[in-house]
Amino acid sequence: MTPTTPSHLRRLLLLLLLPSLLWAAQDPAAKSATKAPEPLPPPSLPETVYLTWQRDPVTTMTVHWHTDWTKGFADTALEYRAAPAGGADTPWSRATGRAQPMPFTNRMVHTVELTGLRGDTTYQFRLGRLTTRESDGALLFTAHGPVHRFRTLPATLSRPVRFVSGGDIYGGSTSELMANMCKVAASRDPEFALLGGDIAYVNNEPKAAPRWFDFFRIWGDTMKTTDGRIIPIVPAIGNHEVHGDTYEIRGGAPNRGVSPDRALFFYTLFAFPDRPGYNALDVGNYLSLVALDSYHSNPVPGAQTDWLKGALEQRRHVPFVVPFYHVPAYPSHRSFAGATSVAIRANWVPLFDAAGVRFAFENHDHTYKVTHPLRGGEKHPAGTRYLGDGAWAVGTRETTPLDKAPYLERAHSKNHVFVVTLSADKADFIAVDQKGEVFDTFTIAAKR
Ligand SMILES: [Fe+2]
Ligand SMILES: [Fe+2]
Repeated sequence: MTPTTPSHLRRLLLLLLLPSLLWAAQDPAAKSATKAPEPLPPPSLPETVYLTWQRDPVTTMTVHWHTDWTKGFADTALEYRAAPAGGADTPWSRATGRAQPMPFTNRMVHTVELTGLRGDTTYQFRLGRLTTRESDGALLFTAHGPVHRFRTLPATLSRPVRFVSGGDIYGGSTSELMANMCKVAASRDPEFALLGGDIAYVNNEPKAAPRWFDFFRIWGDTMKTTDGRIIPIVPAIGNHEVHGDTYEIRGGAPNRGVSPDRALFFYTLFAFPDRPGYNALDVGNYLSLVALDSYHSNPVPGAQTDWLKGALEQRRHVPFVVPFYHVPAYPSHRSFAGATSVAIRANWVPLFDAAGVRFAFENHDHTYKVTHPLRGGEKHPAGTRYLGDGAWAVGTRETTPLDKAPYLERAHSKNHVFVVTLSADKADFIAVDQKGEVFDTFTIAAKR
């Protein structure tokens, strides 16, 4: 037998394959099976990216972003890594989460919680799309868009921790005031922003949804630290997150009720405080942020107050326990006899007193105020200072004269944010106006 040469082999193969090649040439289905797959349509790029927390900010981060579902499908997937030091090429880790529709809009709200992070560490993350490799079913990640940055909080107060606090934020019809105040707040390099309600003045109205788009656009453009980290939001609910005038419990509509279902935007846009609407966020061993709902989607008395009692008892040894909520117990513009203020003083203030809370943030009155340290409504050196009253970027109101509100130490009609710096034994405060000028400075000792 003569040895087979390569050209003999090729001829033999061609003869064997010829019938099926002829058949494939006539059959369109078989033809398409041999064609390269269509390229994927471009991914739906994020309209906005922002951060919050659901659990300890030392070891976790919750990333939210929005996409427009009419522009195509977007995976809820990202890659993250500790920011590489000295040019090292650190590998990325992948995380996935869930998406849900933003009510009454074309947007999806994507949520990914990162866990197991290192404290006091800067991380990078990037969004992307997932595709399946058919040969082995592996999911491949293709990054798109920019690389974002955030920082976890330290586990102890081994270094000072700074945050900003304010409320009544996007209340105007132009972006200018909000953008100015956000730039002022961000220039102080805070670790996060406490927002005490009345965030975008949408009132859960479908037709007002673009105000949320504006809010997140302005926030995203401005609320970055000087080294480019995104500043997370820790929010509480206000009356303007709720459909209808449910913050007033005054007469006339006792059966109107309060329900988280009246605030669908709020509970879809932020993973914290989540339903039912009050929650605590514990930071390492030194700080507990207690978000409360001042009669917007939950009654003040009853289940919420019962929960608060237990939550404060559990945190007796935490040096900084900081309640924040919308309607003030000690108002600086509205009436002291307002029904919600009365309810808060009857239900929550005795619990703050018993727990030795040193300061709480209030909002809603569109003024600046610092109360005396109060216990049972009376001046007391170890009492609680109530700080407010929500004027991040809204028209300010007149303040109640100090002789008519003796619980007030000082009050001004001024847009402001509080900048709070925690160290082991004290919290240092400055109040900053929209020009970045510091107009008030004070210190409150930590709980002993
Ligand atoms: Fe407001
Ligand atoms: Fe309000």
